[in-house]
Amino acid sequence: MKILFIGDVAGSPGRDMVQEYLPKLKEKYRPHMTIINGENAASGKGITEKIYKQFLEWGTQTITMGNHTWDKKDIFEFIDDAKNMIRPANFPEGTPGKGITFTNVNGTEVAVINVQGRTFLPAIDDPFRKMDELIEESKKRTNIIFVDFHAEATSEKQAMGWYLDGRVSAVVGTHTHTQTADERILPNGTAYITDVGMTGPYDSILGMEKEAVLKKFLTSLPVRFEIDKKGRKQLNGFLVTIDNNSGKATNAERILINDDHPFFS
Ligand SMILES: [Fe+2]
Ligand SMILES: [Fe+2]
Repeated sequence: MKILFIGDVAGSPGRDMVQEYLPKLKEKYRPHMTIINGENAASGKGITEKIYKQFLEWGTQTITMGNHTWDKKDIFEFIDDAKNMIRPANFPEGTPGKGITFTNVNGTEVAVINVQGRTFLPAIDDPFRKMDELIEESKKRTNIIFVDFHAEATSEKQAMGWYLDGRVSAVVGTHTHTQTADERILPNGTAYITDVGMTGPYDSILGMEKEAVLKKFLTSLPVRFEIDKKGRKQLNGFLVTIDNNSGKATNAERILINDDHPFFS
């Protein structure tokens, strides 16, 4: 089983890249399932029902979220019916939506789990203990478990990778919007990358117009950040190959597409 994961899709430049490159990536890598982190898909903040449905139409099976889950009011209208969308599972009890989903891929079940870190992010429930619970729930149905760990600190992400090694198929980091080059398969068979990176504006600062972010650093004045729509674009992803029976990863590959790293089909 091959699973393609696309890192934080930021605004319309990110959505344009998914629309343009997802068919090309599918042709080249032939993934059986595609997952997108959509927490920044609507102008950098949150997601709308329209965009959620567009991702599904483009051939994505699961949408994961993060700390921007609630940024668009629209989310409260559709999250409980959005069976292919998950938000961090360790949000407080009673929060709308869910943090785990099971997808039938050609007769094989895949569990996808979204959890969020607590270092330099709002205080929520313990993602490590939450993972223990969710792995137990998943193992009753499948050995194929894919985890999007939405976190800021590299140390917390590495800790989660080691904590889950051999218990899940993949731990991929999201949130920092900058791809790390540390992809590997941990000793007990879990594919790992600290951060998949961001899909969207390339000539930007984490997806936002660089002029505004620079002004913030230079003056400390309040500045409104907007998605950069004038510069070049990029796509950041991760491809994991998993043994269907054991659930262990056999291959992990980083995907980086921009003008400095062109795509060859
Ligand atoms: Fe993000
Ligand atoms: Fe985030």
